[in-house]
Amino acid sequence: MIITRNIKELHKVLFGKKKLKNTVGFVPTMGALHAGHLSLIKFASSENDITVVSIFVNPTQFNSKKDLKKYPRDEEKDLEKLKNINCDIVFIPEVEEMYPKDDNRIFDFQGLDNVMEGKYRNGHFNGVAQIVSTLFEIVNPDKAYFGKKDFQQVAIIKYLNENYLKDLNIEVVACDIIREEDGLAMSSRNMLLNKEQRSEASLISKTMFFYCNSYKKYSVAGLKSKIISEINSNTHLEVEYFDIVDNKTLQSVPDIIPEKTTACIAVYAGIIRLIDNFSFN
Ligand code: PAJ
Repeated sequence: MIITRNIKELHKVLFGKKKLKNTVGFVPTMGALHAGHLSLIKFASSENDITVVSIFVNPTQFNSKKDLKKYPRDEEKDLEKLKNINCDIVFIPEVEEMYPKDDNRIFDFQGLDNVMEGKYRNGHFNGVAQIVSTLFEIVNPDKAYFGKKDFQQVAIIKYLNENYLKDLNIEVVACDIIREEDGLAMSSRNMLLNKEQRSEASLISKTMFFYCNSYKKYSVAGLKSKIISEINSNTHLEVEYFDIVDNKTLQSVPDIIPEKTTACIAVYAGIIRLIDNFSFN
């Protein structure tokens, strides 16, 4: 496994591989790797000759300095995990390498970023687009892999790829959510939960899945209020939003059409913010 921290060196390695007509799969991450990340990497390596993983906690996508500071980092453990699976190249740049000067680009997502995560995390997706577009240009893979855990992020990256980065000819692949045994969606933030918060956090997916699976018994409004009030009845949980949206426009829907609709939720467990979603399909 090759570990590189600068773009020049990465280009040298990649250039050699691409000359051999190897296909390149790319998995961008912010580290603190868990089985969710590893599933993307394993899938990428099953579909490509070479797998590149980036680890970079991107400051421009955090809207609070506190959140950026407390984001978990453990390079040593991450490298250990990557060595045990089929990762060929790890790119771990410093902030100066990715942002030698301020990135002032503003992306227009035609409203995809005005709802849910975008509404509560001002500027978050613009920061994601800045780093993902920069990484796409640097790595220029054949395919890039993202988790459906971040449902809105996938929609925005697909839009970015099709509307701003078409010339790079990269295929964006969305991969399934990996969960803990009790149903909690895996997340780097889970390790920040205390015992009581962690135990109640499993009720987010349990409650959402229970009611969404019997959605026919409820109106959309009834389903929303049932899920929100039940989750909020737990001591450590507070729903920030729960919405049922169209897969393409991400706008709230009046009716559930399983193949076109997803339920999305953000919940605070203490000060830790967790997200999850349920596809009706
Ligand atoms: P990060 O939160 O580290 O996630 C990296 C990738 O892993 C994302 O595509 C995310 O959706 C996926 N992922 C996280 N948890 C998952 C789970 N439980 N199951 C399946 N996939 C999961 O998302 C980011 O980083 C950043 O925004 C990034 C795209 C790297 C840009 O900075």
